[in-house]
Amino acid sequence: MIKLQNVKKYFKNNKVLKGVDLEINKGELVVLIGPSGCGKTTTLKMLNKLIKPTSGKILINGEDIGKKDTIDLRRNIGYVIQQTGLFPHMTVGDNIGLIPFLKKWTEDKIKTRTFELLELVGMNPEEYIDRYPNELSGGQQQRIGVARAFATNPEIILMDEPFSALDPITRNQLQDELFNLQQKLKKTIVFVTHDMDEALKLGDRICIMKDGVILQYDTPEELLKNPAHGFVEEFIGKNRIWNQPEFIKAEDIVIENPVKTIGNRTILQATEIMQQRHVDSILIVDRDNKLDGIATLKDIRKNRDKKVTLNDIMEKDVVSVNKDDSIVDVLKVMNEKQVGYIPVVDNSQKLIGLITRSSLISVLSEQFLEEEEVAV
Ligand SMILES: Nc1ncnc2c1ncn2[C@@H]1O[C@H](COP(=O)(O)OP(=O)(O)OP(=O)(O)O)[C@@H](O)[C@H]1O
Ligand SMILES: [Mg+2]
Repeated sequence: MIKLQNVKKYFKNNKVLKGVDLEINKGELVVLIGPSGCGKTTTLKMLNKLIKPTSGKILINGEDIGKKDTIDLRRNIGYVIQQTGLFPHMTVGDNIGLIPFLKKWTEDKIKTRTFELLELVGMNPEEYIDRYPNELSGGQQQRIGVARAFATNPEIILMDEPFSALDPITRNQLQDELFNLQQKLKKTIVFVTHDMDEALKLGDRICIMKDGVILQYDTPEELLKNPAHGFVEEFIGKNRIWNQPEFIKAEDIVIENPVKTIGNRTILQATEIMQQRHVDSILIVDRDNKLDGIATLKDIRKNRDKKVTLNDIMEKDVVSVNKDDSIVDVLKVMNEKQVGYIPVVDNSQKLIGLITRSSLISVLSEQFLEEEEVAV
């Protein structure tokens, strides 16, 4: 959809972008984040030709935008900036309807669309359409800015720190609204921010920039788990992943090689294995390593005949979690089902390992120990 190929931008001797390669897919929300002056706004402005690259190419839908008509290009790209860029002497309705008007839509069509957009951003059209920007709160102005960017239903929307001037509560609210809007409309959005929380919340992918280069371009989950660079780790905040526990998956904390065997073993053999490994339960799998059941020493001791096999006595209704379930899901299941351990399986029910209450505690406490060391 959008492709930057070795894009450089120099302002006289100031090398602001030093060869940026970036690809953004259709329907994706990509966040550009990085310290002040790293070139975020410059990158964004090049996408609608407010700034020309010194060298390199920018393609939109495979077309070199350098060769496209600027006005046409801009009318198909919505742009939201921090200070909303609303025209103060125009009403809310006229602000939103400006581009449709320039595109020569009929008055009726503009009015219908304006009403629709105001509703979309959670503002009562009857109440607000005739107000002027200075009669709105900061959050409301920002909503109008967003509505205006969506007015002509452009494929691409550029947003340069659209929420940064807002108080935290309003900002959160607008983030949620943008997120919901995006789930519905699936635009291609390039969103600039300073705020890592905002980036993690909104971005399908996040592009971390510094001094005119891209340090890492990845999904929020990958960034948190595998920061490719010391600066990235620092910028994200060490141990940030613990603020985002839904990104920690069962497979990240699983104990591999749990004590397991196949079902046609006798309970005598199973007891032997358990004693050797100092455990009081054993997982039972089939020849393909698919989880069949579980047996505890207590279950086994109820049987006098030691030739009985695990197949005869095992508990078949085992509570398990998928390797992709998050640590939050795992804790929930453990609490709901009142179990102290839980097998982890993959999508075809094959056993990957085990999570126990104590393995969870040790993962969690390692985390806190590490943090204390940092604090010292
Ligand atoms: N028109 C211009 N002429 C000269 N230098 C410029 C111009 N526009 C931007 N710059 C410089 O380019 C660098 C990158 O600016 P840019 O606005 O892209 O940064 P940014 O990442 O958006 O920063 P911020 O987070 O503060 O908005 C800065 O050093 C800035 O001073
Ligand atoms: Mg900027």
